Amino acid sequence: MMVDYIGVERVQELVTRIGPARFIEALAHEIESDYRRWREFDKSPRHATHSAVGVIELMPTSDGRLYSFKYVNGHPKNTAEGLLTVTAFGVLADVETGYPLLLSELTFTTALRTAAMSALAARRMARHSSRVMALIGNGAQSEFQAIAFHHMLGIRELRLYDTDPKATVKLERNLTRLGLQALKIVRCRSTAEAVEGADIVTTVTADKCNALILTPEMIRPGMHINAIGGDCPGKTELHADILRRPDARVIVEFEPQCRIEGEIQQLESWFQVTELCDVLAGKSPGRANEQEVTIFDSVGFALTDFSALRYLYRLNRDQRTAPEEIDLVPDLDDPKDLFGSLEHNAGRGPAVKWPATDSLRAAADGRVGS
Ligand SMILES: NC(=O)c1ccc[n+]([C@@H]2O[C@H](COP(=O)([O-])OP(=O)(O)OC[C@H]3O[C@@H](n4cnc5c(N)ncnc54)[C@H](O)[C@@H]3O)[C@@H](O)[C@H]2O)c1
Repeated sequence: MMVDYIGVERVQELVTRIGPARFIEALAHEIESDYRRWREFDKSPRHATHSAVGVIELMPTSDGRLYSFKYVNGHPKNTAEGLLTVTAFGVLADVETGYPLLLSELTFTTALRTAAMSALAARRMARHSSRVMALIGNGAQSEFQAIAFHHMLGIRELRLYDTDPKATVKLERNLTRLGLQALKIVRCRSTAEAVEGADIVTTVTADKCNALILTPEMIRPGMHINAIGGDCPGKTELHADILRRPDARVIVEFEPQCRIEGEIQQLESWFQVTELCDVLAGKSPGRANEQEVTIFDSVGFALTDFSALRYLYRLNRDQRTAPEEIDLVPDLDDPKDLFGSLEHNAGRGPAVKWPATDSLRAAADGRVGS
């Protein structure tokens, strides 16, 4: 049986063809529609395997028709060795048969879906008049965040800071090359300088510690904080007193996972948070007034990768008559004769294509319930 395969090159091709801003917006749309049927999904905190230098995580979810998982790592020390901090790949599968449908790269896709999720949350949480964003941490994720907030929130001034000045130079160079409309880019000498006058603050740093990227005196009424980089036990970015402000509203992707991995790991278990699904469903406000400090405590949840994998699966098939495939599952005349096929098929290429059922195609197309 052949399984669709999307490698690094194919994702680069798809994103370039559509354009990163439109791709992120389309992903945000997919994520939002899946979050609106939150209760249909099987949800659990991700499985994390920690080491002294990083973490490897497995992130499964399912809506009863499709199943997905992502393998993702987080190794902040990797960039010093010429390697990415975060890499990922994932699988989309058919719940009916358990057969995989797609094996895909998810390193680019993680950056795209994280930016989509950040912008989706900020559209509900940030003040509508927000035009200035501080971007703290200018590594691999940063361009994606910048593009999403420019395109989806109307950010027109970006204030950049990273402890590594080379990262900031790289980010500025990439954004300048993109020529984003009317975007002013300001390089700052500290986080405090970058945050001064910002409507939105995105923290997307990588360090395996309880960092104090944002401290209470930096925060002004009305700010929206998009906290992305704290996503593991013992790996946070915000001083806990920011979360404890009486005017703070904290919104999370999936509460049980965020209690373990998010900024709120620093707080008591009864500290009140709201899940984004309730905001998107209109049950809770993303912001109650112009003065509130809103905080999106993001750690990355499996549902966004589910949405991204399904989107990629559809896009890949729509844009090409013959998607690339790999022989991941044996194709047998007699399904009970696995051993016989091992000897018989040695050296023979796979031939038969797996026929997707109508219901499966509908699910993959996002036509849920049809
Ligand atoms: N919430 C999510 O869904 C999600 C998704 C992807 C990545 N992440 C997290 O986002 C973070 C960034 O990921 P990346 O791929 O961009 O990593 P990266 O290593 O490419 O970039 C991180 C940047 O942060 C900078 N930095 C570290 N400490 C800093 C400090 N004190 N002040 C300012 N800058 C500092 C580093 O110099 C580096 O340039 C990681 O911690 C990663 O785990 C979260």
